[in-house]
Parts: sequence; structure tokens; C-alpha cells
Amino acid sequence: MTAVVIDGRAFAADLRTRIATLAAEFEAKAGRKAGLAVVLVGEDPASQVYVRSKGKSTIEAGMASFEHKLPADTDQATLLALVEQLNADPAVDGILVQLPLPRHIDEQTVIATINPDKDVDGFHVTNAGRLAVGQPGYVPCTPLGCLMLLKDKLGDLAGLDAVVIGRSNIVGKPMAQLLLAESCTVTVAHSKTKDLPDVVRRADIVVAAVGRPEMVKGDWIKPGATVIDVGINRVPAATEGKTRLVGDVDYAGAAEVAGAITPVPGGVGPMTIAVLLRNTLVAAWRNAGLNLPADAI
Ligand code: GUN
Repeated sequence: MTAVVIDGRAFAADLRTRIATLAAEFEAKAGRKAGLAVVLVGEDPASQVYVRSKGKSTIEAGMASFEHKLPADTDQATLLALVEQLNADPAVDGILVQLPLPRHIDEQTVIATINPDKDVDGFHVTNAGRLAVGQPGYVPCTPLGCLMLLKDKLGDLAGLDAVVIGRSNIVGKPMAQLLLAESCTVTVAHSKTKDLPDVVRRADIVVAAVGRPEMVKGDWIKPGATVIDVGINRVPAATEGKTRLVGDVDYAGAAEVAGAITPVPGGVGPMTIAVLLRNTLVAAWRNAGLNLPADAI
């Protein structure tokens, strides 16, 4: 058996097309573009790449992008003042402060300062709470992207056994909440879990988000299961001095057994920015007091 490959790149491209249509509709109704502000403190090369890519995608979707680049030695009070300014700015629907922040700045304090109704990352405790109790809010982009891929592939998820490997606030915990809300039977596994292979073998859905290259082996996968690989790990390639990207799942082994699987790259990765644009657009409609057409995105 060979698994169907879940094409996150194609799904994300389609999602962006739908977002662009709704962004134009928003602009016509509201008389302004939906706006996303991205704040970058310091010069971390990976973060610079992400921020540039977010800005470009925002503009391509017909939304306004506001980039704020601050030096690495910016003090916390200055950053909090900028967040407050963005909270108060009616042109800004979504605020994203790129993580990680320099060590002298407390990330939780910064996240707590973002207006929850502009928190398109879904990192504020208010949004974590809304997700936990089933109120409308903002869900972190990566797990929401994973859920979209799962529903596209499987339809109704009710009653399925789901195992989430990893318990981070950004992926594992919100992923578990989303699957629970879809009426899956959810297990959250982590570094202290006993007999992880056996736990994973029970799952109809496996979401791997641990950041350990190719940790989940093919013989852990139940035949026909759907495997979502959130990992992006850079490892040495066969050619001296080169690197390659691998997920948290041994792709070749798992693809022999699974029913469907996301590749790395080209699976979950492309979904994250598309969902960020989606969350920003939803924020724009809500913040303008407009009704987004039901189930539009
Ligand atoms: N750094 C890496 N990914 C993310 C993300 O999704 N949001 C924020 N704010 N920072 C990140």
C-alpha cells in the first residue's frame, strides 16, 4: 500500500485565491483594505525570511501590510508601546509579533498586551480560553492549517482516534482542542509518554509536532491512518556540506502503511501563512462589524 500524498501547497494556493476574493469584497464594503501588522525585533535570519514572506503574501492577497522592524536592543517598554499603538490603529486588523524575541523581552507580557481581537496568531490566553470553551476567537495558524487538511481529506472526523505528538502551546495543545471539538477521541503524547509506538498504532489520525527528525517510524502507523507531519528539521544530506529538510515522521516508511500523508516540504508548511491571511481577513470582517459569508473560508 502506498499513501495518498496530501498536497499542502495546492490546498494553500486555493485557500489564498478564496481569501483574495473575500479581501476584495471586504475592501468594497468597508472602504479600506484588511490590514496585518508584523513586528520584528532584531535580525534573526530565519525570522527575517518569514517576515518578508508574510508581507509579500499579505499584499498578494489584496490586504495592507504594515511592517515594523526594531533593533535587537529595543527595550520592552518601547515594544509594548508599539503594540498599544497598533491595538488603537483602525487600519490594523491583525497584529503578529514575530517570535522568538530577544532574551531581555518577556514574550508572555508582549502577547498579553495584544488586543485578543487582533491576535491573529491565537497566542493570547483569551484566545486559548475561547478555543477551549468553544467560543469564536483566533486559533494558531499551524494547527488550524492541519485541521483544514484533515477535513479536506477525511470529511467528518467524529469518532476517530487521534494522537497528537507534542504539547506546545503553539501546535500540540491547540491541535488537541481542535480535534476534540471535531469529536475525535484525542490522546496527547509527549516526551514522558510510555510505549509511544503502541499509542501511535491506535490512531486513525497522527499529528506529529515534536521537532525530532524522522522520529515516528513506519511500523508505528496503523494501516490506512492519516499522518500530518508538522516537523521541519534540517539534517545533513548525503552530499558533503549540504542539508535537507525532513519532518518528524520517517516519510518513506510511513508512506508504505498510511492511507494519506503530508510531505516535508510541501505539506503543512505552506498552510501556515495562508491561515494567517485567513485569520487576518476574519478579524477584518469582525472588527468592521460585518458578517463574513458563512463557511466562506
Ligand atoms: N515564529 C515562527 N513561527 C511563528 C508564528 O507563527 N508566529 C509568530 N508570532 N512567530 C513565529
